[in-house]
Amino acid sequence: MTVTYKVEQGGALKGCIRVPGDKSISHRSIMLGSIAEGATHVSGFLEGEDALATMNVFRALGVRIDGPDHGSVTVHGVGRHGLRAPAKVLDCGNSGTSMRLLCGLLAGQDFDCELSGDASLRKRPMQRVAEPLARMRAEILTAEGGRPPLRIKGSANLRGIDYRMPIASAQVKSALLLAGLYARGRTCVTEPAPTRDHTERMLAAFGHAVERNGSTVCVSGGGKLTAIAIKVPADISSAAFFMAGASIARGSDLMLEHVGVNPTRTGVIDILRLMGADIELLNQRQAGGEPIADIRVRHAELKGIEIPVGLVPLAIDEFPVLFVAAANARGATVLRGAEELRVKESDRIAVMVEGLQALGVVAEPAADGMRVTGGNYGGGTVASHGDHRVAMAFSIAALRASAPITVTDCANVATSFPGFVELARSAGLRIQDL
Ligand code: S3P
Repeated sequence: MTVTYKVEQGGALKGCIRVPGDKSISHRSIMLGSIAEGATHVSGFLEGEDALATMNVFRALGVRIDGPDHGSVTVHGVGRHGLRAPAKVLDCGNSGTSMRLLCGLLAGQDFDCELSGDASLRKRPMQRVAEPLARMRAEILTAEGGRPPLRIKGSANLRGIDYRMPIASAQVKSALLLAGLYARGRTCVTEPAPTRDHTERMLAAFGHAVERNGSTVCVSGGGKLTAIAIKVPADISSAAFFMAGASIARGSDLMLEHVGVNPTRTGVIDILRLMGADIELLNQRQAGGEPIADIRVRHAELKGIEIPVGLVPLAIDEFPVLFVAAANARGATVLRGAEELRVKESDRIAVMVEGLQALGVVAEPAADGMRVTGGNYGGGTVASHGDHRVAMAFSIAALRASAPITVTDCANVATSFPGFVELARSAGLRIQDL
């Protein structure tokens, strides 16, 4: 199915909205719930295709999962050794998180399996998990160039390692920690910069000890996870489109409810604030081991900045819409140290430069980032290249364009943000899908 967005220029974002559940936490709720003992009740689950792919994988591994029903899911855990050999290839769809975390979780099972996904996922690098997992004595066979499909030979002989990650990746860290549950001894991962820590928080909530010492996190193999109730907060990565949109659109005053504000995810707020955005965190509270807030965003005149490199991993999924914010800022915004953007659902540096230039924005690519000069821009047709976050970012750009923007190939917005068009329209974006 092809989906095209047509977005009329102008408008402001107003009112009070709640974006769908956090994708990272939704994936992990299914994974840990499946290998726990007892029934894990999840509310606020993201009914997006990525999280549903993880759910279907665990069903294929013999786990009974009820739902989703309006965000409610019950995972009937089978215990650490209760997964069963799947009858077919496990399809991760568009989801890198599913595939990479599953590599770790499945390496220590007593059966073999194969993982694959869609055309975008089959181009993404998997060596980053296969290589350190091999050091744990896992056997993972990749296709050419370290790409999917992956054949995983289950092994009872995993051993813990000390691994210093060359890249700041929560997916790699999580894959190793999940393999560590099945390994002899301790598995320790040291990160070059802080990355999202949902796996660590959730493991602890399921009763599995996690030690953190500076930038190193360790788990020991063995033990059991005990089912819990999980309340998934709204996804800050989805809220980010509206934070940037309300910041750039004159007259905006928008409240985003119940957003997860885990400090390993709030780089987008820090970056927008450095650019001069007016963002307030209200009613800060905790739910299910994660910090939550309501976020009020009002229009502000933005200025260009050099994005601090330390914030890059903390905002890694938000750069498409941050580039759009930069196109609306006074002066230039420069991003460096973000080569990871080249291996996301699309090459987000190349694809965003192409789209921004199509609208008349001055955007210059670098190997590891981009320089965007703010100013007025027009409308036109932009190719999302099937990347959900690119599609949503260019929809938001229309708030300040001088003519309508058409965004092609938007079906994958359903991977992370089902109901985007309706919710965005309710807040004031002049969007329709064709
Ligand atoms: C994720 C980690 C990030 C992020 C992805 C989700 C996770 O990837 O881009 O959308 O849930 O662990 P990397 O860890 O590869 O940067």
